[in-house]
Amino acid sequence: MTPQTKTPLDLPPVPPFERLTKLLEEAEHEASTARAQLEQAHGQMAVIQRERDRAVSTIRKLNREAFFDLARRAEQRDGESPLHTARIGAYSGLIATGLGCTPAWCELLESAAQMHDIGKIGIHDSILSKTGPLTTEEWRLMREHPRIGAAIIGQSDEPLLQLASEIAMTHHEHYNGAGYPLGLCGRDIPLAGRIVAVADFFDALTHDRSYRKALPVDTVFSMIRERRGEQFDSQVVDAFLSIAEQIKQTRQRMVEQERVYHATEGWDGDWWMLA
Ligand SMILES: [Fe+2]
Ligand SMILES: [Fe+2]
Repeated sequence: MTPQTKTPLDLPPVPPFERLTKLLEEAEHEASTARAQLEQAHGQMAVIQRERDRAVSTIRKLNREAFFDLARRAEQRDGESPLHTARIGAYSGLIATGLGCTPAWCELLESAAQMHDIGKIGIHDSILSKTGPLTTEEWRLMREHPRIGAAIIGQSDEPLLQLASEIAMTHHEHYNGAGYPLGLCGRDIPLAGRIVAVADFFDALTHDRSYRKALPVDTVFSMIRERRGEQFDSQVVDAFLSIAEQIKQTRQRMVEQERVYHATEGWDGDWWMLA
């Protein structure tokens, strides 16, 4: 039996021209309705995305502010002034600029450095406010503040908090390996930690504490120079000494702000409005 072949007569009948035109018009109408619905959906998506981005950035901002506040409170519990954290940030940013780091990183460091001692929030008041020398056990607990701080802020994937966590963990490391808590040595200590170590040393010794008076600024500059290549990274020390005048001016400006802060305790507004 031979296979049957189709002949033109088997094709469906061609609809009349008017019918074809109508079908085309209907199809075009459906397509343009679908396009309009798609555009509307895109518009709604863009609004939702903008709202989501705004919500995420608000949460991040509140998160950062909460950490800055926690860091200031931690330092205050240790007898530091509320401006200690801001000074560490400012000195660190200046040193990083002196080292030739990018402006964006210097700015990030200036903020992140302010959280260096956030881990003191986990140290008992009896240790933080002790005026006499700490016992061996008290020192052991005190030296835990870098780990505590890094754990508090290290959960976030935000670059600022990642850097802050790195600084919290490494700002007491010494270039020669004699620091804590990890005993890191040389370039194994992240640059941010090496910078904040110098800034923290300078600030701690140039301000009064309950158990000792501030040392003269030039004496502290000499002490930092003596520790070049030992406690501190030589390059960081060189950058710090090369901007000594800027550091002194910044310190003076912030001491003045602090004076205004103390003079206006009890003032209802923010102290910086008067500075
Ligand atoms: Fe510290
Ligand atoms: Fe500190």
